[in-house]
Amino acid sequence: MRILIIVTGFLLFAGCTAKPTYQKTELTWEKDIKTIFEHNCIECHGLNRVESRLNLLDERTIKENLWLIYKTVIQKQVMPPTNNLNINLSQGDRLKINSWIRGNAPGIGTGEPY
Ligand code: HEC
Repeated sequence: MRILIIVTGFLLFAGCTAKPTYQKTELTWEKDIKTIFEHNCIECHGLNRVESRLNLLDERTIKENLWLIYKTVIQKQVMPPTNNLNINLSQGDRLKINSWIRGNAPGIGTGEPY
């Protein structure tokens, strides 16, 4: 029984931290992703307020938090908050962010396999 708990715990832990497989992408920060962040994120993360001390106007901050952003925006889909009527991240834009991060964020990350 104890073994079962340990194994289950490990799998849950691994599942939460594992990165999805790398997939090459043509999407780049400047060309495709920056405007999505400008329209959907920076109102609360850089422009008027800096929630969670996460300034998404700052490219280094984005680079350092890529996997947190992935977890929040793609896996849990809790950002941007759904109770804000002015902001509605389209499914298409969410898919772009997904592909871009999985491609190791060309323009901010290396774009090479991680
Ligand atoms: C209407 C305001 C608002 C917008 C727009 C918004 N956020 Fe947030 N964000 C918050 C608040 C408030 C928190 C901190 C509280 C929380 O974690 O729920 C937060 C926290 C986060 C966190 C940290 C989560 C954690 O577990 O530490 C990430 C990452 C994030 N936001 C990314 C984004 C991204 C990317 C966008 C745009 C796609 C975005 N947010 C848009 C308000 C916003």
